Amino acid sequence: MNKKTVIIYASTHHGNTYKLVKAISDKYTIDTIDATTQSLADLQSYDVIGFASGIDFGKFYETIESFTKKNLPMNKKVFFLYTCAKDRKGFTDSMREIANQKEAVILGEYGCKGFNTYGPWRVIGGMNKNHPNQDEILQAIKFFERCIK
Ligand SMILES: Cc1cc2nc3c(=O)[nH]c(=O)nc-3n(C[C@H](O)[C@H](O)[C@H](O)COP(=O)(O)O)c2cc1C
Repeated sequence: MNKKTVIIYASTHHGNTYKLVKAISDKYTIDTIDATTQSLADLQSYDVIGFASGIDFGKFYETIESFTKKNLPMNKKVFFLYTCAKDRKGFTDSMREIANQKEAVILGEYGCKGFNTYGPWRVIGGMNKNHPNQDEILQAIKFFERCIK
């Protein structure tokens, strides 16, 4: 892989999104940054920058949004990864808006289900148990491979 790549992630609910990030970083030599413990980074040297998050009220976690606003340099290639309770269009809209303000090239997005115990789901043991599953993780790796081609 000759593109220097970093994935910035926040995966605070159950570590669901981190499973995707971990599978990618186990297979490829990339850097990862946990945005919940690091709020500043110099991303200038990266060719490709990924942002990975669970979905909170229809968008990426606030830590990822504020990290992106603060640290994404102009004119970078970016991609988005997420896990959610129930996939629908628009989860990356506000991240896309931030990226557009930085004149980024958006390479694409990949999202899949993640274990969710928010609100009433907690009472019945949660929804999407065992997600992301092996197939979803493989799909995330394939998506990543298309982004770094
Ligand atoms: C406070 C909260 C709000 C959430 N809001 C949404 C939502 O709007 N849409 C959705 O599909 N999932 C929602 N979820 C479910 C999470 O996005 C899902 O469980 C995700 O896989 C968590 O990722 P993580 O473990 O990487 O943090 C919400 C979860 C929490 C805790």
